[in-house]
Amino acid sequence: TARVRIHHLQQAKERGEKWAMLTAYDTNSAAVFEEAGIPVLLVGDSAGNVVLGYSSTVPVTLDDILLLTKAVTRSTKRVLVVGDMPFGTYEAGPTQALENAMRLMKEGGAQAVKLEGGIRVAPQIKLLTENGIPVMAHIGFTPQSEHALGGFRVQGRGAGADQLMADAQAVQDAGAFAVVLEMVPAELAAQVTKELSIPTIGIGAGADCDAQVLVWPDMAGFTGGKVPRFVKKYADLRAELLRAAREYAEDVRTGTFPGPEHSFE
Ligand code: KIV
Ligand code: NA
Repeated sequence: TARVRIHHLQQAKERGEKWAMLTAYDTNSAAVFEEAGIPVLLVGDSAGNVVLGYSSTVPVTLDDILLLTKAVTRSTKRVLVVGDMPFGTYEAGPTQALENAMRLMKEGGAQAVKLEGGIRVAPQIKLLTENGIPVMAHIGFTPQSEHALGGFRVQGRGAGADQLMADAQAVQDAGAFAVVLEMVPAELAAQVTKELSIPTIGIGAGADCDAQVLVWPDMAGFTGGKVPRFVKKYADLRAELLRAAREYAEDVRTGTFPGPEHSFE
């Protein structure tokens, strides 16, 4: 089957068909998600937390995302791969954003990029889309601004609702093909979804968004420790891998592995 394109996501909104996005950071998991029929994979800077061991997305570099994007694009041919622009790779201005987005497309093989922010990054979104780069926006709680926002907090409450709506409208007007709404009250996210013509992708934003996204090690139970309230755990990969590693160690200790079937004459 052919590659998922941004117009397919637009058509899905018009038909009222919801779809699921996942993050991906390596070649095997990306292939699994494509086989599962996930249409869009995000090489998220959440890799900073769930792959690289940082306590935030702030230290993640363009080279980090490039490496992971290459791994994801090598094993997939149908999914739309979105490369996440790390903190410090687009804020200085549209030209900086264009140069770095080009690298995610040319070297990484991504078909789109994502960046955080609303009205503030509208000039960046405009220049990228004018130059043939599909842009996914990301508003509400934006993890790269964690320190300015005072931690992981729901955005758009009270007077923040008007600001969120204005940001949503601004990224659409600038040319974004979709917008992630993170940690936004469900009712406000529903309202944004209704007002916008482009798809909204919710994470902690209720059931009425056009699509949903989750960080895969969170949804698959691979992340150690606590996961956010908005995550549903669909598997317990950590427990399964722990069991396998323990069993292997035990087999080696006891001489059960390797057996003759694993050995050469
Ligand atoms: O980096 C990431 O995983 C993200 C999603 C949570 C939207 O930005
Ligand atoms: Na991100």
